[in-house]
This record gives sequence, structure tokens and C-alpha cells, in this order.
Amino acid sequence: MAKQIQSIRGMHDILPDESGQWFWLESRARLILERYGYREIRTPIVEKTELFKRSIGEVTDIVEKEMYTFEDRNGDSLSLRPEGTASCVRAGIQHGLFHNQQQRLWYQGPMFRHERPQKGRYRQFQQIGVETFGFAGPEIEAELIALSKRLWDELGIDDVTLELNTLGTPESRRAYREVLVAFYEANRDQLDEDSLRRLDGNPLRILDSKNPQMQALNEGAPSLHDHLDDESKAHFEMLCRLLDDIGIDYRLNLRLVRGLDYYSHTVFEWTTTSLGAQGTVCAGGRYDGLVTQLGGRPTPAAGFAMGVERLLELIRVRQGEQGAYRPDAYLLLAGEAAQQAGFALAERLRGDLPALKLQVNIGGGSFKAQMKRADKSGADVALIVGDDELAAGHVTVKPLRDRDAAQQTVPYDSVRAILEARGETRDD
Ligand code: HAM
Repeated sequence: MAKQIQSIRGMHDILPDESGQWFWLESRARLILERYGYREIRTPIVEKTELFKRSIGEVTDIVEKEMYTFEDRNGDSLSLRPEGTASCVRAGIQHGLFHNQQQRLWYQGPMFRHERPQKGRYRQFQQIGVETFGFAGPEIEAELIALSKRLWDELGIDDVTLELNTLGTPESRRAYREVLVAFYEANRDQLDEDSLRRLDGNPLRILDSKNPQMQALNEGAPSLHDHLDDESKAHFEMLCRLLDDIGIDYRLNLRLVRGLDYYSHTVFEWTTTSLGAQGTVCAGGRYDGLVTQLGGRPTPAAGFAMGVERLLELIRVRQGEQGAYRPDAYLLLAGEAAQQAGFALAERLRGDLPALKLQVNIGGGSFKAQMKRADKSGADVALIVGDDELAAGHVTVKPLRDRDAAQQTVPYDSVRAILEARGETRDD
């Protein structure tokens, strides 16, 4: 036998048993986004490498070590997108979506990062992301947080915590950066290799080092909150008030700085302890400077992205098989004449009952074998047509899940009413 080819490490197939859950989550998210007035944008999966270098930042884990970068046939450096914000901003500038306008956008799709795979951390993973442009006040951050909370409620997720911080205006962040660099310079002998490298490019990232020795040093580091200017404080306080007004709890986490460079003012993460080490299911914040950084006119912006695999894992942990696909009905064809006519009959049913999910038995088999398949399909009812039923224009409707309900043999025209009464022709 020829050698089998496996999928790439950290990149997974979504098999039919799981894809129903994906669809279920995606459709709920889309519905909520539409309720808040967000419109979908779709951008290419491959972009110029420079886009990510200039937006996410040169001294970040993503750009330094995690991008799938390659030269195309013209010698241009391209990368698989590691996230969606940069592409959204690029597209908005390119197509004139920002100037004197407000935009509420969302997207979904695969992102690629060459990280060390583990549970909840993959090299290809799916994000649903939301980006807003043209809103300077903290109401938009409150809306983003409210919208994500509504989605958790809808999905039945209640074991997530909102962690919140502010990085302040670029000016106050710059002033803080100087104080912080001076602090680390004074303690240079205690810095690990990663921190020494970050000291020049991205000293704030030293603050969320996972190294216990660095964590001890960080305890004594100056706090950004002591260096916030009035504008930064007012913005953050207003956001906290808006969240209080709608009863959303949050935990102030002064160490939260995020792994991408483009943030200013608010940053937030929804985290859970139910998933082990990879507990952040959704993260984002404000990034007012990014549009100008990428060549556009000054445009306030804020957004977030959620990791779909992590959310699905969380739902599985809590709820089992929510959203799994199953047909409404399975059509059994017993007898030679019925088998011949069955294919056309199934098409007629689909034409007459557009909301019905119907699987037809193909490939014959004894009545018992067909019943077994019907049961395995997960369908709620079996529709049985034998030669006698065919001759009389009848169909037998046999409930499969509730054993007490009786089966009925009825004229074809009555099948619709029976299925509708059973709720089999829902439109979801
Ligand atoms: P991020 O924190 O890099 O932010 O990713 C957002 C979410 O994507 C994470 O909280 C996590 O749930 C999921 N995620 C990230 N990496 C992986 C991975 N390797 N495997 C599985 N899931 C993962 C961003 O990407 C920003 N673009 C968010 C944003 C939008 N900020 C403003 N607008």
C-alpha cells in the first residue's frame, strides 16, 4: 500500500460529526453581529509580509517567530495572515471605507501561526473578529464587550471572566515606556534573554513574561496607571461606568498588555479556567494609531477576535453535543418498485417541503438494514414507502425517537401536515 499522507501538525480537519457545531456557533454569532449593525468583510488569506510587520510590530512573537512567510514566484515576500485586524485596516484604506465614515465590520476565517501546538493552540485556527472605525468614545468598547457577553449568554457559556486594562494614549504610553526602560536598565543583570531583546523594541511586553524570575522583578516595576494622563483616565473611567450600567463584571488586570503592538487605551480579554493553559477565548482593544501607521488618515478604531476552537471546546466541556447535524427525516424504500420510484419521491418531498432535511436511503438493503441506517442518521422520523404504499400513494410516518408515538400511514398530501405538527420542518 502506498504511504499515507497526514495533515500538517497543528492543522486539523473538521469532520462531519463536528461541523454541525461549527455551523451552529457561526450562525449564532452572525445573528448577534447583525443585531448590533455589523456587516461582514472578506479579505484574502495571503497578504504582503510588510503589512503584518508594520501593524503587529517587528518585535512581537507573531512577526519574529510565528508567521508562515514565503516568496512567491515574483520574489515578493508574502505571509499567511496570522490575524485579521491588519487586513481589515488595509482593505478599509484601500477602498476608502474610513474617511468621514463609521464602520462596524466583522469577519471570520482561518488564521495561521507557527506556534507550538497543544490543546487549544493550533497552527491553523479559526477566528471570528469584529473591527470598528470612526468611533472615538468609550461607548464602542462597551458595545464590543456587551456584544461578546450577549454571545456567551446565547451559547450558554458562563465560566468566562472579563479582564480589562488601559494602556493610555500613545503619549502617556511613551512617557511610561521611558520610566519602564530606566527601571529595567537599572536591573539589567536580572533580565532573561527574551526580556533583554524586548528592552529596546517592546519593553511593555516584559511585563507579561511567564518566567517566574521575571515575574518577581515585575512586581516592583513602575505601574502604567501611575503615568496615565487625564484623557486616558477619563476614557477608561467612562468605559468602566458604561459596563457597570449594564451589569457586566470585569477584573482590572494591570499586567494585561497584549502581544500585538497596535493597541492604545482599552485592552481586554475574556478568559476561562476550564480550558487549561490556553484560557483566552476572546481578546481585543482600541488601536487608534493603526490606520495612520498603514498610510490612512487618522481614524479611531477598536475591535476584538475570538478563537472558535477554544469556544467550541468550552461549549463541549459544558454541554455535550449541542448543534450536531441530524436530518429531520430518513426515507426508507422497501420493495423493488418503491426503490425505483424512491429517488424521484425524495426530490418531490424536497420540492414540496423546502425546510425539511431529508436523507434518502440509497443502495437498497433489507428493511432491517435500512431501519438501522435511519436510526444511526439521528433523524426524528422514518418515512417508509413500500410497494403497497407506493401503489396507494401513501407514506408511513414512523417516529424514531419517542417510542410511544404511533406510526401512521397517510396519503402523500398529509405528510406535510404531520411533519409540521411534529416541528420537523423548522427553518434553522
Ligand atoms: P489575539 O489575542 O492574537 O488577537 O487572538 C485572538 C484570539 O484568537 C485569542 O484570544 C484566541 O482565542 C485565538 N487564538 C490566537 N492564537 C491561537 C492559536 N494559535 N490557536 C487557537 N486559537 C488562537 C488578535 O488576533 C487581534 N487581531 C484581536 C483584535 C481584533 N484586536 C483588535 N481587533
